[in-house]
Amino acid sequence: MSKILVTGGAGYIGTHTCVELLNKGEEIVVLDNFSNSNPSAIDAVEKITGKSVKVYEGNMIDREILEKIFTENDIDAVIDFAAYKAVGESVQKPVEYYTNNVSTVLVLLDEMKKHNVKTLVFSSSATVYGDPERIPITEDCRVGGTTNPYGTSKLMVEQILQDLYKSDNEWNIAILRYFNPVGAHESGLIGEDPKGIPANLMPFISKVAAGKLPQLSVFGNDYDTKDGTGVRDYIHVVDLACGHINALDKLKKDGSGMHIYNLGTGVGYSVLDMINAFEKANNIKVPYKIVDRRPGDIATCYSDPTKAREEIGFVAKKSLEDMCRDAWNYEHNKIG
Ligand code: UFG
Repeated sequence: MSKILVTGGAGYIGTHTCVELLNKGEEIVVLDNFSNSNPSAIDAVEKITGKSVKVYEGNMIDREILEKIFTENDIDAVIDFAAYKAVGESVQKPVEYYTNNVSTVLVLLDEMKKHNVKTLVFSSSATVYGDPERIPITEDCRVGGTTNPYGTSKLMVEQILQDLYKSDNEWNIAILRYFNPVGAHESGLIGEDPKGIPANLMPFISKVAAGKLPQLSVFGNDYDTKDGTGVRDYIHVVDLACGHINALDKLKKDGSGMHIYNLGTGVGYSVLDMINAFEKANNIKVPYKIVDRRPGDIATCYSDPTKAREEIGFVAKKSLEDMCRDAWNYEHNKIG
């Protein structure tokens, strides 16, 4: 049976997508270098699904490991999650970010081409819209104006994929622009586990609720939003994972093409909304203070999810309460 290669399959979105793929009866192969994840995350995927996962440990820049994977397995599609994703860190380490997020993809594409595998789902981000031209954001909004190497690296790969498709229409590519993935699998066995102090809102809230950090800093309450705090399109990671299944189905049905989809809910919540929802869903206090704006932040960012609904039948089903409950359940379940 042909298999799907999931690069970065041990990461936050990768593990959740592996679960959905396995539940659907797909066979998968994971490539991960565990630089920002743990092999135990794959054990958890196996526990949740009752299925086994073939894992290759290595870096995607290493042509040999890709060669080995494509030779040893009958791969017919790739979902590429393997990337660094910390915005702040990317400003400090641009060379590492461009190498890991762009150069590796070039090696992957070259190996795919060599083995005549031309179906790819690529993890992109709403960050490619920069300061969005309009809200809600449709896929045809202007891209560019990214303010950090992480965002620029995603934009660069999008451009590379567009050029690739132009050069050879046999390619079959879906670029998925994620909004703000949060929450965790309801089992509490997999979730987001950033090393050190979390940069993103939801993991920070979970750590504060757990008493591991004293309080949340809310970055600014003077934005032009309903309560002055930043508004984002938070999407449950399980919904997001399901979006990859919808995208793959579309690619398999169409045979070739180049598609771009927003994966979001279409609803914006403020930072204060998130704190309140978390407190209510879990009956726990989240102490916070208002501080200055974080440089590079925008006021409002949420998707227009119409295209994904109409073309691939993707609709996010889980509620804000589900996101908050599952994020906390995962935090609780963790050892340490
Ligand atoms: N926020 C706080 N305090 C914190 C962390 C965040 O107030 O400690 C606020 C931010 O100012 C923002 C909101 O919470 O208004 C969300 O911030 P996140 O850092 O969780 O997410 P961002 O929207 O800034 O960025 C995320 C990902 C990026 C991705 C982008 C796409 O981190 O990788 O969404 O929209 F590119």
